[in-house]
Amino acid sequence: MNADHRVPAWPALIADADLRPHNSFAVRARAAGLTALTRIEQLDDLVEAAASYPQAPLLLGDGSNVLLVDDYAGLVVLNQLYGRRLINQDDEHAWVEIAAGENWDQLVDWSIAQGWFGLENLALIPGRVGAAPIQNIGAYGVEFESLCAAVQVYDPKAGNLQWLDAAQCQFAYRDSLFKRAGSRYWITAVRLRLRRRHQPNCAYAGVAEELQRLGLDDSQASSIAQAVRSLRRRKLPDPAQIGNAGSFFKNPVVSPEDANALGQQLAGLPRFEQDDGRCKLSAAYLIDQAGWKGYRDGDAGVHANHALVLVNHGQASGAQLYALAQRIAADVHDRYGVRLQIEPRVICAAGEP
Ligand code: FAD
Ligand code: EPU
Repeated sequence: MNADHRVPAWPALIADADLRPHNSFAVRARAAGLTALTRIEQLDDLVEAAASYPQAPLLLGDGSNVLLVDDYAGLVVLNQLYGRRLINQDDEHAWVEIAAGENWDQLVDWSIAQGWFGLENLALIPGRVGAAPIQNIGAYGVEFESLCAAVQVYDPKAGNLQWLDAAQCQFAYRDSLFKRAGSRYWITAVRLRLRRRHQPNCAYAGVAEELQRLGLDDSQASSIAQAVRSLRRRKLPDPAQIGNAGSFFKNPVVSPEDANALGQQLAGLPRFEQDDGRCKLSAAYLIDQAGWKGYRDGDAGVHANHALVLVNHGQASGAQLYALAQRIAADVHDRYGVRLQIEPRVICAAGEP
C-alpha cells in the first residue's frame, strides 16, 4: 500500500516536543523527540534515529489508550501509514488490508459503504487501526479478534516485517501478544475478514432499545453503527471536551465461587458468564458502589456519569491520575477483595510499571 494524499508534510524531527495534543487525557508531557512514520520504507531509518535516545522509541496512534506519567526520554513516532484495499473475496467474505495509521471509525463507515460487514458494533471507538490489535478492542458484543485475519508487524530489533495470523496474536479480553510484549512489535497493517451479508448482532444490552428509540431497525449495518454511536455519546465523555481514555480499568474476571460470594455482599452486582465458566464482573459497578463516582482531587477525577472513566478536568498531570487510579484500585480491593487491572498503557520514564 502506498502513502496517499492524506500524508501531511512533516518536519523530519521535532526536539523537546509537546505531547499534550497527542494523548486523549490531554496531560502535559514532553518527548525528547517527535516524528512521524509515513512510509514503510522509513522504518529502518527511524530505528537508527531512535537509537541515539536513552529510552526505546514509542509508536503512537491517537494516544487514546495511554497515560503519560512522565516526560518521554525517547523518540515518539506518530503512525501515519495510510491505505486500504480489497485483497480477496468469495461469496461469503471480503478480505481487506488496512494500513495502521487509518482512523478506526472512518474504517467502520468505509467498510459498510463497500457492503462489507462486521465492524458496525465497533463504531466510534477512538484511535487508529494499528492500535486495534494491541488490546483487541471490543464493544457492544464484538471484539477485533473475531474479524482479524492477520496482523503485519515490524520488529525493530530484527529489522524485518512479517504477518502473524490471528492465533499467533494470542487475543484475549483487552489483551494480546502485543500488549504483553511492550514495544517489541510495531503494527504496520491489518487484514480483516468481513462478511458480504449483513448479520445483525444486537444482543448486547441497550442496542435493540437504542435502535427502537431512533426509529430504526436492525436490517442495515449503518443503522446499528448509528445506534452504537448514539449510545456511546450518551454514556462516555468526549475527549475533545474532557480528557479521558475510556474505561480506565478492565472488567475483572473471577471464579464462579468468588462471584457468588461477592453477590452476597452486593446484591445488584452485574455478572456475565464466560465460555470458560468464569464470571466477568462490572468494574464500574464496584467503583460506583465504593463511592468514587464523581470524585475529584484537584483536576484528577472520576467521571460523574460513568465510574469506570477517569477524567482530567484541565490541568491534572499523568502522575496525579495514576495516583488516583491506585487509590481506587486499593479501595476496591479492601472492600471487595477484587484486584482491578488498568486498561490503558501507563508510560513512565522507566518504561511501563
Ligand atoms: P494509542 O493510545 O496511540 O496507543 C495505545 C498503545 O498501543 C500504546 O502503548 C502505543 O504505544 C501502542 N501502539 C499504538 N499503535 C501501535 C502500533 N501501530 N504498533 C505497535 N504499538 C502501537 N477501547 C475499546 O477496546 N473499546 C471501547 O469501547 C473503547 N472506548 C473508548 C472510548 C473513549 C472515549 C476513549 C478515549 C477510548 C476508548 N477505548 C476503547 C480505548 C482506545 O480507543 C483503543 O484502545 C484504541 O485502539 C487506541 O487507539 P490509539 O490509536 O489512540 O492508540
Ligand atoms: N455501571 C455502574 N455505574 C456506572 C456505570 C456503569 O454501576 O457509573 C454498571 C452499569 O449499570 C452496567 C455495567 O456497569 O450494568 C456495565 O456498564 P457499561 O455497559 O457502560 O459497560 P462497561 O463494562 O463499563 C465495557 C467496556 C467499554 C465498552 C462497553 C460497551 C471494558 C473495560 N469496558 O464498559 O470499553 O465500550 O463495555 O461494550 O470492558 C474501553 O475499553 O475503553 C471501553 C470504553
